Amino acid sequence: MSTVILPAPGAEAAAERFATHLRACSGDEVRVARVESRRFPDGETYLLLHDSVDGAHVWVIGTLRDPDPQSLTLLFLADTARELGAASVSLAAPYLPYMRQDIRFHPGEAVTSRTFARIVSQAFDRLVTVDPHLHRYPSLDVIYRIPSAVAPSAPAIARWITQRVPQPVVIGPDGESEQWARDVAARVGCPVRVLTKTRLGDRSVEISLPQAEGLEGRQPVLIDDIISSARTMATAVRHVRAAFGEAPVCIGVHAVLAPDAMEVLQAAGAGEVVTCNTLTQAPEAIDVFGELAQAAAGLALRR
Ligand code: R5P
Repeated sequence: MSTVILPAPGAEAAAERFATHLRACSGDEVRVARVESRRFPDGETYLLLHDSVDGAHVWVIGTLRDPDPQSLTLLFLADTARELGAASVSLAAPYLPYMRQDIRFHPGEAVTSRTFARIVSQAFDRLVTVDPHLHRYPSLDVIYRIPSAVAPSAPAIARWITQRVPQPVVIGPDGESEQWARDVAARVGCPVRVLTKTRLGDRSVEISLPQAEGLEGRQPVLIDDIISSARTMATAVRHVRAAFGEAPVCIGVHAVLAPDAMEVLQAAGAGEVVTCNTLTQAPEAIDVFGELAQAAAGLALRR
């Protein structure tokens, strides 16, 4: 049976990359379908599938940097693929949004991670993603009712550091980043430090001061899963510069990047800033699509 990749608008390059890796690791016939999309004058979405999905296992792939409008398009594509005879319809979301709203911090707040997971689980048969923000949830299975697989970013990030950064020390800016920072440091074979963070608001954080004793001469490399407002990374950059006397390399798995994020990082004195290619297909991004395709190829449908 053939596999068809359906790109949501804006995810065409990601779809081609995903297809290339999926072909290589599964040996299956994998096609990328052409999806035409436009907006009606009233703002509603028009979609047209130019290729057949009849009888195929379909992967809808979406770049969910702007999750609210883009998620609705994914649901339209999933429903259309089913109506047109797809044997299964799965979601490849290299960046899985809404994972940070995982608790009711204040009475009356929406725990949107649960609602988002319920909607996706109703529409799709499987889910594959790259390092979702698993903090209070130990796994996606706690909120997603469909088979899911997580592709790790650590192998690709560790390869990048090994090739580019002599004598690194990996630093996680907060407790949530510890899982990624420790994994990457173990693969690189370098020391690791993890700071602690208190979030005061959407754009305001306090971070503990790093200790540089015993790490003299090492190049600090900050690693976080998400760079959004960039306040976490920027605050850590200032502290690391003060402690190490070096501009840290900044690595984010997911380049959510609010409009002023890069300026905030530059103003803080960041060194090179690099992210994985879950939300950008820029050539300099760290490629995690091999891991994404492997996770997808190994993910069985529920019987
Ligand atoms: C949450 O703690 C995450 O691990 C990131 O540190 C956070 O999402 C970064 O957000 P921002 O860039 O807005 O500080």
